[in-house]
Amino acid sequence: MRLYYFKNAEDLAKAISARLGIDARQIEERDFPDGEVLVRVEPAREVALIARLYPDVNKNLVKLYLALDALTDYGAERIVLVAPYLPYARQDRRFREGEPISSKTVLSHLKLYPVTHVVTVDLHKAYISDYVGGIRFINIYPSSQFAEVLRRWNVSHVLSPDAGSLGRAEALAKALGASYDYFEKFRDRETGEIYMRPREGISLQGKAVAIVDDILATGGTLVDACKNARMLGASAVYAAVTHCMLLGNAREKIKGCINALYCTNTIPCEYSSVDIARPLAEALASIL
Ligand code: R5P
Repeated sequence: MRLYYFKNAEDLAKAISARLGIDARQIEERDFPDGEVLVRVEPAREVALIARLYPDVNKNLVKLYLALDALTDYGAERIVLVAPYLPYARQDRRFREGEPISSKTVLSHLKLYPVTHVVTVDLHKAYISDYVGGIRFINIYPSSQFAEVLRRWNVSHVLSPDAGSLGRAEALAKALGASYDYFEKFRDRETGEIYMRPREGISLQGKAVAIVDDILATGGTLVDACKNARMLGASAVYAAVTHCMLLGNAREKIKGCINALYCTNTIPCEYSSVDIARPLAEALASIL
């Protein structure tokens, strides 16, 4: 099995390669002035390909598909895709008439190639893997890694900002030996505006709480959840978010409410203290 990686995933590739004892080789990439891209691969029969698809999601997706196509043309028989963050996962269904199911669109192209597995981290909705039947998904949720960094804060309650993230809250709560619950979040699909409210009967009086989510984009969801938690009496609010994009003034918003934020390095940033290389390497080892 050959381990290939795109330049922006070098840190993960080196760490995974060291753990597995397999050489990691970089895919050649070129970005042309007109926006087109090109890649160059070395032929191999069995390949694990590490692709960090954020930022520049559209460009990186095209590079990924060019690489998969070239690998296939040159005789690859088995490809394992390691994509820690899968873009377009949030459009997991048609929210308004006439829209595509973008996650299906993006993933369905994988069926053109001998991709047997996708190793990924905290898919927005696990069921999108069903859009590409025949390809096995290993969807890592780093609850024990998050628990490790949160343990020092004596977190007694874990909250998700919406019902869709409840599974994350449950997993982290179990790892911490804490209780868990969720807020109710509503989104206006026309304006994108969000409204959040606590469920009846939640009291967080004097508690140190942790909020979990898969993505931190503008920070609006996390900060709304934080404000709700403080309104309910939380004494401290920590956050564990898997993929941190920190768009716009997200940093300032977060500093105004959250005591400490922990993210993974699926998308590297100043908060990505939770290293995902070990679980990725373990997942790869289980299928190589
Ligand atoms: C939405 O369903 C996701 O799980 C996140 O809650 C959302 O993408 C976060 O976005 P933002 O930081 O812009 O509120």
